[in-house]
Amino acid sequence: MPNGRLEGKRALVTGAAGGLGAAIAARFVADGARVLLGDVDRARGEQLARDLGDRTVFVTLDVAAPPAWNKAMEIAATAWGGLDVLVNNAALASPIVPIEQRDPADWDRMMAINLGGPFLGARAALPVFRAGGGGVIVNVSSVAGLGQSGIMDPAYACSKAGLTMLTRIIAAQHARDGVRCNSVHPGPIDTPLARATYADTETLAQRLSRIPAGRFAQVEEVVAAIVYLASEESAYVTGVALGVDGGALVQ
Ligand SMILES: NC(=O)c1ccc[n+]([C@@H]2O[C@H](COP(=O)([O-])OP(=O)(O)OC[C@H]3O[C@@H](n4cnc5c(N)ncnc54)[C@H](O)[C@@H]3O)[C@@H](O)[C@H]2O)c1
Repeated sequence: MPNGRLEGKRALVTGAAGGLGAAIAARFVADGARVLLGDVDRARGEQLARDLGDRTVFVTLDVAAPPAWNKAMEIAATAWGGLDVLVNNAALASPIVPIEQRDPADWDRMMAINLGGPFLGARAALPVFRAGGGGVIVNVSSVAGLGQSGIMDPAYACSKAGLTMLTRIIAAQHARDGVRCNSVHPGPIDTPLARATYADTETLAQRLSRIPAGRFAQVEEVVAAIVYLASEESAYVTGVALGVDGGALVQ
């Protein structure tokens, strides 16, 4: 993999202690960025910071809590003098809970984290980006945010669909601030969790039948799309919903 594509960039990755978040953080560091690792899981986040070295700092960040975002921005300002990239990656996932069976409080919690989190992140980062002459937001959505509606959890899908429009709104309303905003829409990613979820051969076959490529994404394939959107290589790309889904959304 080429290094240096994010040289000098100061990034905040939310949900950094999780499967995809940790891989994004590791690749960002390898490509020259400094990374603020935001997560509610302090033990795993601090361990990741130790593993990735002194170009990373862990911050306890509940993306649904506005004061936590202010603290994260203060840390970025104090440690690095600003921020260039925000990756809104933290989210809750869910197996399908039919609408009539979904607890309204659980619905609200999903919205608060998956959609409210990126909103609060943008709200905190925009003034910092503007002060620094610009910035980039990459929202980690899902194929659930655009389609495959018959097999998705309603709450999860609606939170990710809202994130698609939030992405477009930010792109349209803040381009003149030097801010770009795009979303990435992975299908299922080959992680230990996905392997456990689809351990049953029939369930796996059913899920794969909805993916023209006939396989799940490798974590690195999703990270590569995020690096592209975070880097200057995509300088004229904004408001895009980029599927990383083996063709799932054109099926
Ligand atoms: N894994 C997949 O197959 C898949 C497919 C499509 C999209 N995605 C998306 O990719 C992103 C990452 O998913 P993952 O598979 O790495 O999940 P994961 O569960 O491994 O990681 C999620 C991380 O978010 C953190 N988190 C949860 N609530 C938080 C909060 N309120 N504030 C801050 N951090 C919080 C968790 O502690 C965890 O570290 C999510 O946005 C998810 O919707 C994943």
